[in-house]
Amino acid sequence: MNKDFKEAFEKTKIAGLIAAGALDEVNKIVKAGVSTDKIDKVCYEYINDHQAYSAPLFYRGFPKSCCTSPNHVVCHGIPSNKILKDGDIVNVDVTAFKDGWHGDTSRMFKIGEISIKAENLINTTYEAMMKAISIVKDGVHLGDIGSTIQQHVEKKGFSVVQDFCGHGIGETFHKEPNILHYGKKGDGEMIKAGMIFTIEPMINFGNYETKILNDGWTAVTRDKSLSAQFEHTIGVTKNGCEVFTQSNKTI
Ligand code: MF3
Ligand code: CO
Ligand code: CO
Repeated sequence: MNKDFKEAFEKTKIAGLIAAGALDEVNKIVKAGVSTDKIDKVCYEYINDHQAYSAPLFYRGFPKSCCTSPNHVVCHGIPSNKILKDGDIVNVDVTAFKDGWHGDTSRMFKIGEISIKAENLINTTYEAMMKAISIVKDGVHLGDIGSTIQQHVEKKGFSVVQDFCGHGIGETFHKEPNILHYGKKGDGEMIKAGMIFTIEPMINFGNYETKILNDGWTAVTRDKSLSAQFEHTIGVTKNGCEVFTQSNKTI
C-alpha cells in the first residue's frame, strides 16, 4: 500500500477505535431513567481519557461532545436533561480527533423492550449500511453505494433521508466527497483506493422529509415517524475496504 495511505489508515483507525470504544461505554450505561446528558458525559470522559478530542464539541457552535437522537430525531440531537424511557430508541454519534485524524461512528441503542416496528427499522438500517460497505472497493461509483442502500431500505417499505449524507473525513471532520445514501448504480464519482469516508444512512419509518428545530441543530422527521441511523468510517483498498470504527466488543 502507498506510504501516505498507510499513515492515514493507521491514524484513522486509532481515532476510530476510540470513537467505537466510547460507544461501548455508552452501551454499558444506557437504560430507562438515564439522561442524554449522561451519555454525553460518558463519551466526553472516555475520549479525553484516551488523549483525544471530541470533534463535535464546539464544531460550528455545537455545544456537546456527541449527538443523541431519540425516536423521531433523525440526527444532530443535542444531549440535554431529557430522560430516556422504556421503548425508546436512540442514536449516539461520536467523533474522536486523535493525532490530527478523525474517526466518526454511530449506533442505535434500545431502551428496554422496543416495538417490533422499531426493531425492524433498526435492523434494516444496519443491514443497509453493511451491504453498502460490502460492495466498496477501488473502481466502484458513489452511486453504487447509494443505490445499494436505497434498494434494501425501500424493499422493506422504509425511506432514505436525503437532507444529510456521509462525507469524506481525515485531517478534516467533513470534506469532499458527499456520500449520498440513495442514487443510481454507476452514477457519480469513481471511488479510489486510499479514500477515507463515512457511510451513515438515516432511515425513516415513514416519509423521508426532515426539518430542523429552533435550536438550529436537531433534525426530525416531518411526519414524526421513527428514524434510525448507523455510521462507520471506512478506508478504500484495491479489493475492498477497511472499517476503522468496528469495535471488537459489539456491532
Ligand atoms: N458526527 C456527525 C456526522 O456523522 C456530525 C456531527 S456535527 C455536530 O457527520 F456538530 F452536530 F456534532
Ligand atoms: Co459522519
Ligand atoms: Co457521525
